[in-house]
Amino acid sequence: MAAEAWGILHLSDLHFGPYLQQTESHGEWANIPGAFPHHYRLVQGMEFHAALLLKEYKGRILAAITGDMTTAGEPSAYEIINNYIRGRTYVRGLAKAGLGLSDEKVPFFHVPGNHDYWHSAGWPVSKWNYKSRFEIYRKYFPEPLPEVYPVVLNGTSVTIYTLDSNVIGRHRLPFQLDNMLGNGEVGDAQLADMQTRHQALVQASEAGTGVPAGYSHAGSLKVLLLHHHLALPSEVDEKKIAQRLLVLKDAAKVKAMISDYGIHMVLCGHQHFPHMLYDLEVGDNRHKVFYACAGSATQVKCDQNSFFFYEFAPRGTDQLVLTPTRYVRNITSNSYAFKAEVCDPIVIRLR
Ligand SMILES: [Fe+2]
Ligand SMILES: [Fe+2]
Repeated sequence: MAAEAWGILHLSDLHFGPYLQQTESHGEWANIPGAFPHHYRLVQGMEFHAALLLKEYKGRILAAITGDMTTAGEPSAYEIINNYIRGRTYVRGLAKAGLGLSDEKVPFFHVPGNHDYWHSAGWPVSKWNYKSRFEIYRKYFPEPLPEVYPVVLNGTSVTIYTLDSNVIGRHRLPFQLDNMLGNGEVGDAQLADMQTRHQALVQASEAGTGVPAGYSHAGSLKVLLLHHHLALPSEVDEKKIAQRLLVLKDAAKVKAMISDYGIHMVLCGHQHFPHMLYDLEVGDNRHKVFYACAGSATQVKCDQNSFFFYEFAPRGTDQLVLTPTRYVRNITSNSYAFKAEVCDPIVIRLR
């Protein structure tokens, strides 16, 4: 019997505010032009499909969230988003909302976005007894950055690489203009740290110690998560400087790392519309690199809200048929419901 298909749920740019916004008439960011948080109706629309996927692929699904968890990085916003992602939070009365990834034991991987710590110090962080927004982020999302995670899902080995593309702290000003503009940077120190972690995992896999039973790095699907972009979507006007600014400053170095490690998929966020490339050029890699930006599932005022699900059907011992499904909700529709669009499949060769 053929092995069952399994999947990755890819959400990004949830941009939560300090409340489950618009479940009540107030919300401090709701009416500030340009500072748009999530919309609860969109949260519900996303959650409807996510819950179906988590049920259908129970025990065979992992989740990736690629940054901009919050719009302004306040402790209350992190409290809400963290509870929402990992568990289920009360909205009012007995009504609950939440993905419940921890409750459902869904492996969950994440990276920060520029909105998660868009400036480094000073007011109003000190009033909350934190030194920086990064410190607030780390309280709720303390997992190491960068990191490499060996996972076995439905008999398939998966390796998740996580990078922080918001290298900040090299400037004297608390407001990090480079970071706020949004192009992002990974930095040499982090790439060197990743190299150490990658090599340690390769050695542990070869020795068969310190990795999950049945895990093989060489035979694994390798997925990189980061918030910022390695490439422009094909449909944008390259002359638009605003779009060019959104490509990571050290994209070439990250692409070289992708090539060296044999990474098959790159998942990102940041742009608030969905886009995919089936064959991102990353150097002399022998396999195609699939690249996708999930867009924002839940922020208001996007032209299009979106998220992705990737289904992997094993073929033989060393291939996966990847079928992406794009969930979209157009602002022109009067509904907050998302529509599922199944995209063309692609074959990924694991070795
Ligand atoms: Fe965003
Ligand atoms: Fe962003």
